[in-house]
Amino acid sequence: MPITFDEKSRSFKLDAGVSSYVMQILPRGQVAHRYWGAAVSDFDLSALLESNGGESLGLDGENTLDETPDSLLCEYPGGGAGDFRVPAVTALAADGSSAVDLRYVSHQILPGKPALEGLPAVYLNSGDEAETLAITLEDKYCGLRAVLYYTVFAELNVITRHTVLSNAGDASLSLNYAMSACVELPTHDYKMLGLYGAWARERQVEWLPLRRGTQSLQSRRGYSSHQMNPFTALAAPNADEIQGEVYGFNLVYSGSFLIEAEVDQKDTTRVVIGINPYDFAWKLEPGERFTTPEAVLVYSANGYGEMSRTYHKLYTKNLCRGAWRDKRRPILINNWEATYFKFNADRLVKLAEQAAGVGIEMLVMDDGWFGKRDGDSSGLGDWFVNEEKLGCSLAELVERVDDAGLKFGIWFEPEMVNPDSDLFRAHPDWCLSIPNRPKTLGRHQLVLDLSRKEVQDYLVERLCAILESADISYVKWDCNRYLSEAHSAALPADRGREIWHRYMLGFYDVLERITSAFPKVLFESCASGGGRFDPAMLYYMPQTWTSDNTDAIDRLKIQYGTSFAYPIRTIGAHVSATPNHQTGRNTPFMTRGDVALQGTFGYELDLGKLDEGEFDQIEDQIDRYQEYQKLIFGGDLYRLISPFEDSTQAAWMYVSADKKSALVQCVMQHTSGNHVPRRIRLQGLEPQSLYKVEELGVTLHGDSLMNLGFVIPEVWGDHQSVCLTIKRK
Ligand code: GLA
Repeated sequence: MPITFDEKSRSFKLDAGVSSYVMQILPRGQVAHRYWGAAVSDFDLSALLESNGGESLGLDGENTLDETPDSLLCEYPGGGAGDFRVPAVTALAADGSSAVDLRYVSHQILPGKPALEGLPAVYLNSGDEAETLAITLEDKYCGLRAVLYYTVFAELNVITRHTVLSNAGDASLSLNYAMSACVELPTHDYKMLGLYGAWARERQVEWLPLRRGTQSLQSRRGYSSHQMNPFTALAAPNADEIQGEVYGFNLVYSGSFLIEAEVDQKDTTRVVIGINPYDFAWKLEPGERFTTPEAVLVYSANGYGEMSRTYHKLYTKNLCRGAWRDKRRPILINNWEATYFKFNADRLVKLAEQAAGVGIEMLVMDDGWFGKRDGDSSGLGDWFVNEEKLGCSLAELVERVDDAGLKFGIWFEPEMVNPDSDLFRAHPDWCLSIPNRPKTLGRHQLVLDLSRKEVQDYLVERLCAILESADISYVKWDCNRYLSEAHSAALPADRGREIWHRYMLGFYDVLERITSAFPKVLFESCASGGGRFDPAMLYYMPQTWTSDNTDAIDRLKIQYGTSFAYPIRTIGAHVSATPNHQTGRNTPFMTRGDVALQGTFGYELDLGKLDEGEFDQIEDQIDRYQEYQKLIFGGDLYRLISPFEDSTQAAWMYVSADKKSALVQCVMQHTSGNHVPRRIRLQGLEPQSLYKVEELGVTLHGDSLMNLGFVIPEVWGDHQSVCLTIKRK
C-alpha cells in the first residue's frame, strides 16, 4: 500500500504512483519534511540533507541543529515561535499572545479517504485507489491541535492534503492563518506559473523565476476570481511540456485563496496554499474544530504536459460527479449573444426551430426571464417567471421548445440581489453590508448573505420550485460580482471575519441541496464567464463557462491556460457570431467550430443572421463534434504549440487511451507572405506502431512523427484552422 511508517527512523514514506513524499518525526516531535519527487527507496534521508547549522533560535534546551525552527523544513509550521517564514497556521490566544509550535502526538493510516466536513473534495470510486495518513500534532502551550491529512493515490502521482484544526485547550483561540498545506522544496531553482487574467481574459499563462523573498498568487475577492486561478506549478528551469520536474498545487475552493512561495536565507522554498489569511479570522472555542479546504498536489518528472494529464485524470473520475460525469454533453444553443435581454417565448421558439434543423440539441434561456428584468439593473433575487414578458408560462415555453425537438436549459444568478427587486425591498438585511455605510454595487447588484440559513433556504426553495415546474434539463449558475462590505448582520462581532468562509460553506450547502435534488439536470457554473473556474465548482457542476470572451483567437489562450489544470470536458466553449461581440474580430466559421471543439461545444449566436454558407457549415461542425467528441473527452491532451510563445499559431492534440487514434488541431493566428513553415512534433503515440495521417496521406511510425514531426500544411488567410486525423494501422 502507498503509505509506510518506518519505526526505526520514525519516517513516513508516501508512494503516490511513481513519486515519493517523505517526512520524519524528529526527536523533539517536530514533523520534518524530507523529500518530494521521483520515487525513492529509503525512509531515512536525514544523512543526505545538509545540516541546517548557523545561528539559531530554539526552545530552551532544544538547540539541536535539526530543530532550528527558522530553517527546519517543516510539514505544518506555526507562526510566532522562532520560524520567521510564511506560516501554515497562526492562532491568537485568549490572553492576547500568539505562538504556535506543533509537535507530534500520534498518527493513523486509514483505508480510503475521509470526507471533508461541509467542503467539496476529491473522492474515491473504490477503496483501493488510495489510503490516507492522518498525523495529529499539538501545541500543548496554546492548546491548538492539528490533524494533517494526506491521501495518497496508488496509481497517480497525486497527494491530496487538508488539515483539521481544533481547540484542545480550555480558553478560546482565534485562527488567522489556517492553510491547507505547506510543502518545502530543498532549492529555489524553480519557475512559478500563474494563471492570471481579467474578465474576458482569464487564465493567461505566465512563468516567472522564483526570487528570494516571497511571491504570491491570490484572490481577496471572495471568489477564486478571473484575476488569478487557485493553481500554480513550480517547475525546474529547463522544464517544458515534455521534460523536467514539475510540482502542481491546486486548491479545491471557490473563495479568497493564497498560494505563497517563500525562498528563504538558505535558498529553500516553502509553499503554503489555502484560504487567504487576508481579513480572515476564525474563533475556536474549546472543543470546536475547523476544516481547511483540500489542496491537490501533483508531481511530474516529465514536464507540465504530464502534470496536466494527471490533474485531468483525477478531476474527470475523482472530482466531477453525477450522471453527466462520463456522458457526452448535449450541443446547446444559448440565447445570450443572440438576443441579450430582448426576447419572449416566440423569439426563443424560433431560435429553437432553426437550431433543430441543423442538429443542435438544447436551447438555453439566459438572463432576463424572471422578475422585472429587461436590463441588468433590476430583478435579481426575484426568482419568479415573468410570464408577461415571455407571453406564456415556463412549462408552456418548455413544451414548445420540446415540440421543436430540443431540450431546455435555464440561467440563474442565485447569490445576487438588485436593490431594485422585491426581495431586497422585503429583506434589506439579507445582503452583505455594513450598517451606516454605503454599499458598493457591482453590475448594479449586491451579494446575498449566504452564511444565513434563511437566505440559503429561500434560494433552495425558489430554485427547486422553478426546476420542478417544467421539464428543465440544464442549469447555468452564474454570479457576476465579487464580495465587498463583507459583513453579516447575523454574526456576532467576535466572529465577523468568519464571513468570507461562512459564505462559502453556505454556498456549498445550497449547491449540494439543489444539485442532489435534480440528479438528472446538467449544471454548468459561470461567474461573468470564467471567474470561478476552480475544482470546487467542478465537484458540483461538471462544466464551467470558460469566459465571456467567445472570440476564437482569444479563446486559444484562455483554453490553453485553463487546460493546465482542468480537463477539456469541463471547458464550456461556444461558436459565436462575427464580428465577435467582445473583440470585433472576424474569424472563419470553421475555425470558430474547431476552437469550440476544445470544450463542451455549443452555439451562442442568432442563427437567423447567418448566411447560407455559414448555416450549412454548422452541420459540418456538428459532424466533426460527433466524430471526435469521444476522443476529445476521453483521450489524453498534449499541448504542442503555445499561443503564449508563438504569436502566429497554436496547436494541440488528443490521443485515445488505447493509442489507436489521434486528432491534431492547429490554428494559424496570422499568416504572412512567404510564410516560414512551422514544424510540429507529435506526442503520445506508440513509437513502434504505424500511423496514417489521413490529410497528409502519410503513413509512418509513431517515433518518426514524434521525433521528426512534420510541417503544418500551409493555409491561406488569417485565423484558419487545420485538423489532422491520425489512425493506427
Ligand atoms: C454573465 C455571463 C454571461 C451571461 C450574462 C447574463 O456575464 O457570464 O454568459 O449569462 O451574465 O447577464
